[in-house]
Formats: sequence, structure tokens, C-alpha cells
Amino acid sequence: MSKISIKNAVKKYGENTVIPNLSAEIGDGELFTLLGPSGCGKTTLLRMIAGFNSIEGGDIFFNDTRINDMDPSKRNIGMVFQNYAIFPNLSVRDNVAFGLKNRKMDKQTIRNKTDEFLNLMQIMEYADRMPSQLSGGQQQRIALARALVITPDVLLMDEPLSNLDAKLRLEMRSVIRHTQKSVGITTVYVTHDQEEAMAISDKIAVMNAGVIQHIGRPREIYQRPKNVFVATFIGRTNLISARIQDGELIFADGYRERIPALEKAEDQEVQCSIRPEEFIICKDGTEGIRGTVKECTYLGLNTHYYIDTDEGDTVEIVEESSIEDDLKEGQPVLLKIKREKVNIFDKAGNVNLVRSEAYEK
Ligand SMILES: Nc1ncnc2c1ncn2[C@@H]1O[C@H](COP(=O)(O)OP(=O)(O)O)[C@@H](O)[C@H]1O
Ligand SMILES: [Mg+2]
Repeated sequence: MSKISIKNAVKKYGENTVIPNLSAEIGDGELFTLLGPSGCGKTTLLRMIAGFNSIEGGDIFFNDTRINDMDPSKRNIGMVFQNYAIFPNLSVRDNVAFGLKNRKMDKQTIRNKTDEFLNLMQIMEYADRMPSQLSGGQQQRIALARALVITPDVLLMDEPLSNLDAKLRLEMRSVIRHTQKSVGITTVYVTHDQEEAMAISDKIAVMNAGVIQHIGRPREIYQRPKNVFVATFIGRTNLISARIQDGELIFADGYRERIPALEKAEDQEVQCSIRPEEFIICKDGTEGIRGTVKECTYLGLNTHYYIDTDEGDTVEIVEESSIEDDLKEGQPVLLKIKREKVNIFDKAGNVNLVRSEAYEK
């Protein structure tokens, strides 16, 4: 098993710099996800780790071994891709056994190891079938068994679920998660799907334009995103302008809240990120952001609202449904915020002013 250290890695395609300077530490046995919009450089970085891309600057280490120039076949990695790349002319068993035969292991070892992973991935009953007789999810299990059977030090997965339908994606998420944990293998997982990343990862690196914006546990990234890009890419949120004065957060129409974490912040204009569940809708009172109900949708457990504020924003709010009737469209309301939860960024959106030191590691 291996930890992976990426130090100041640079990737250029000709004159085009795709990754300017990227560093990350991936712990032994960790499931580490690269998450970001299409074209941000996730596959490029994964291929650098695998050895299929050259590295134009910096270093990559597996434990203490620098692997920049090591041949891909020597890196002892398992890989799983979106289009599984299983061999259509080999049976399920022979697909899984492929890497072991390549390594010239003896027949009995190959048999035992192959059985172990056919069982682990719950595809033993299909061992003698051809892959075309299996569903997409089962084919992806073959790909995973084939990648793991060679006991790689590192597992690399590039959008492995994106060809599956929604129900299978959910099922395979937990298959991957449980398999990765039971085998204990260091895994770098690429996806553009933030919910998938939240569900399976120990740590997530949120990327944009070849730059890691934030590395953290799913909870940290959701609750205390480092900047506005991360706040808006992970989950849903409302951005509202406000200002800080003497440690208080003040909205345009005068509603103010004292936020303990802001006591030391300088007076300034800010962008406030308030997630749909971080508002409290009040029907009466005097305090709050003033607005009017635009739309209510009853969804059983929750009710989903759009509220037009007097300042001209439309905000999205989710509240647990109450027994009584919903609010009426056109009804005036006051919106309070859950002040422990909201995030407040500088005007440019680069710095989270309420990130506690506990997260700065
Ligand atoms: N072989 C290549 N030659 C030139 N440019 C490439 C090559 N592969 C990827 N790129 C460019 O690098 C950027 C990152 O691509 P990629 O790593 O595939 O993004 P992602 O996997 O995050 O969607 C894109 O702008 C893409 O066009
Ligand atoms: Mg990609």
C-alpha cells in the first residue's frame, strides 16, 4: 500500500498549461476524490499519476519513491474507467484472471485469487459467461475485480459510474466504497458529480481550471467551503450581498446578526452564502430580510420555496413541511438566517471569513 505525494506538479500540452502548480497528499488507504467541472484537469492529473502523461514540473511520490519517470507497468496500479475496457472475447473469469496470467503466476494461485475477487464482487455465478451477457453494473464489477486482483498499491478510477443509469450508480457507489475499505487500498477517484463525491470520499479535492480550490472531508467542504467557487459547486446555495460592521453582518435592508466568528474581521462589503436549509421563514416580526413568497412546492417531507427579496434577489429555501397550510404566494415574509451555519466571503469571493482555525490544516 502507498501514500501518494504530489508536489508542485505542472502539466503542459505544448504551450497550453493545464495544471500550473498542484500539490496534494493522499493518505495510505484513503479514498481521495478529484471533483470539478468538465475540462478542469481531473483526467490529466490521474494520467500523470498512472504514468500515461508526462510531467512538466514538480514531483509525484508513491511513499518515498519518486515515480515521475517510472514506466506505467512498474507503478503497480489498478485502473477502472468509465467504459470499463473489459475484453469482450474473454469470459468473466478470464477477464479477472488476466493480470495474474500476465504476471506468470502458478495455476493454483491464479485460481484462488480469481475466486476471491469474483466472490468479493459477487459475480461468481457469472464466472463462465461472456461479458456481453451481463448488465452494465455487473460489467463494472468485473472491471473492479480485474483491477484489484493484482493487489495494486494504488487504485485509480476515472468517472467509473457515468455510463450507468441512476439506480445502478447508487448501488455501485456503495459497492465501490465497501470494496475500497475492505481491501484498504489507496484510491484516487475522479468525478464531476458532487453528490457522488460526498457519498464515497474520505477526502475531496475540489478543482477548477487546473487549480485545487479546497481539500477537505466532505462535511468541511460543505459546511465551511474555502471560497465562493466551492460554496456554489458543492450543494446549492444563495449568494446575498451584505456588509460587516463592528463584527455584525448587516443586510441591505438593515437586518443584522452578530456572528461570533466575525468579531475580528475588518469592516467590509461581503458575499454571504446561505444554503436553502439555512434560512428561517418568519410570517411576522420586525427582524429579517424582507421578501415576498413567489412559489411554494410541497414535497412531503420538505417544502421548497422561492422568495423574492425586496432587494431584488430570488432565494431558494427548503423547510421541513408543517402540518398546517403552506405560505401563500404573494404573502410578505421576513427571512432570518441560521447564523452558526452561513458562510461569509470577502467581496471577491476568495476568502471565507468564518472559517475556523480547526479547518486550516
Ligand atoms: N492530449 C491532450 N492534448 C491537448 N490538450 C488536452 C489533452 N488532454 C486534455 N487536454 C486539455 O486539458 C484540459 C483538461 O482536460 P481533462 O483533464 O480531460 O479534464 P477533465 O477530466 O477534468 O474533464 C482541457 O482543456 C483539455 O482540452
Ligand atoms: Mg475527464
